[in-house]
Formats: sequence, structure tokens, C-alpha cells
Amino acid sequence: MKIINKVEEMYKYTRSCKSEITGFVPTMGYFHEGHLELMQRAKEENDLLITSIFVNPLQFGPNEDFDRYPRNEERDIQLAQENGVDILFIPSMEEMYPNKMTISLSINDRTNVLCGRSRPGHFNGVITVLTKLFHIIQPDKTYFGLKDAQQVAVVDALIEDLNFPLQLVGLPTVREADGLAKSSRNVNLTPKEREEASSIYKALKYGRKLVVDGEKNPATIIKEVKAIILKETSGAIDYVELLSYPSLNSLKAVDEQVVLAAAVQFKEARLIDNLLFDQSGNLVNRL
Ligand code: PAF
Repeated sequence: MKIINKVEEMYKYTRSCKSEITGFVPTMGYFHEGHLELMQRAKEENDLLITSIFVNPLQFGPNEDFDRYPRNEERDIQLAQENGVDILFIPSMEEMYPNKMTISLSINDRTNVLCGRSRPGHFNGVITVLTKLFHIIQPDKTYFGLKDAQQVAVVDALIEDLNFPLQLVGLPTVREADGLAKSSRNVNLTPKEREEASSIYKALKYGRKLVVDGEKNPATIIKEVKAIILKETSGAIDYVELLSYPSLNSLKAVDEQVVLAAAVQFKEARLIDNLLFDQSGNLVNRL
């Protein structure tokens, strides 16, 4: 595995292997099994696997956890090596943002709901860094976890609107044994919160079961999901929403592919999770 820190060197490398099919897994590091699954799948489906680690300040709000975001580069390098990464791109802040940006990208749709509403500017930061990374790396396919289903919907719009010649692959959320979605932020939960946190998945599963059993009214499903999270966790519900997917519009009835998503704020960690399913409640596992 080769580690590249400089944008210029990454460009040179990208140009030198134009004939190879490149899979790209962008990350902010502190790898967990979710990241490793993306890498393994990308390795299987491409000639070359490039992963990046960059904690992007542009996607964190002023009172968010940029400073607390967990980092462990040494461990990440070892895990990347063990999981078949060919090139690990770890640029510094100065490499990615040498000057104050003169151009700003902003996404107008798919972001006035879910995390986009609670985290103003977050997805503008995500599309900015991804635009830069897609230009630097020029991948053929890029891999994202469906745990952040809104991010996948946003990247889908970015690729479509700005004509990136690139295929988006969304892969299923990887979970702990008790169902909690794997996340770098889980380490910031207290032991009690960690125990409670699996109820988020339990609540979402119950919501999906209601659809399987014939319930079509989003408001009823949301109410039941919220009740379980409120009863079983000490976290504050940021949102529970049921929207069309990937367009993320509100619905009068569950009559198309939807995402049922929740965000819960614990003391030091804000957790998100979701389930994607069709109008009959059948799970959608890959995009
Ligand atoms: O999902 C993440 O880790 C980040 O949002 C991403 C896609 C690497 C952009 O910084």
C-alpha cells in the first residue's frame, strides 16, 4: 500500500493509471467495520482501490464535534493495508484548502430535512470536499454506507447535476451484535447510553414492521418510532422522519421507496440510523 499526502502526487498517480478501474472510498478515518466493508467491496469490484482520510472542517458547524471527532491514523493505516487498499490518500488541511475558497457550492434540494435541517451548511461542506476529491482521484466508482442515507442522496444529486463520470454505490449499514449502527462516534457514548442506543434500531425496525402489516400513514409510524426511543433511551430525539427516497420529499402515504430515519442526541454523541424499504416494507440493501 502506498500512502500519498500531496495533492500533486495524487494527480500524477491518477494520471499514470488511467487504464485501471478505480474504486474510491472517501472517509474521515477512525475506521470501523462499516468502512472496512466498503473497502472490501470496492476491492472486489475494481482494479485499484483508493481510500482517503480527511476530517473536513467545512462540514462541521461552529458548535459541532470537529475537535472531538475521533482520530487514529496509525491504526487506520494498518487496517487500510489489511483490507486491500492500494493507495491511502491522507492530505493535510493546507493541501486541501491552501487558500480561502473563492467558490462555494451549495445544494438546494434534499437538504431541508433530516440532518440537513439540523446541521445547516453540513452538506455544502460535504459536496465541496467530495468535488475536490473526485477531481483529484478521478474514480470510476465511489462507495458510501447507507447509514447516512441523506449523504448518499446528496452525492447522487452531486454526481448527476455536475456530470461526474462516476458510479455511486451505496452499501448496507453494518451493525453491532445488538443492532446499533457502527459509527466512529459510538466511542463517545457512556456505557449506559451505549446500552440504550440499540433501541434506535429496534424502533426503526418496529416502524418498518408496521408498514409490512399494512400501515401507510407516515404520522402514525413516526409517532410509534418516537415512543420507543423516548421510552428506552435518555437521548433527545433530533428527528424521526419518513420520506421518499432518494428525493427526500414528505409523503401523505407510504406508496413508494422510502427512508425511515432517526437522529438522537446523547451527551457527547449524536447518532443517526435509518431503514430503506419499499411500499410493502421490503428492505432495500444496495443502491
Ligand atoms: O461520510 C463521511 O465520512 C464524510 O462525510 C465524507 C463523505 C468522507 C466527506 O468528508
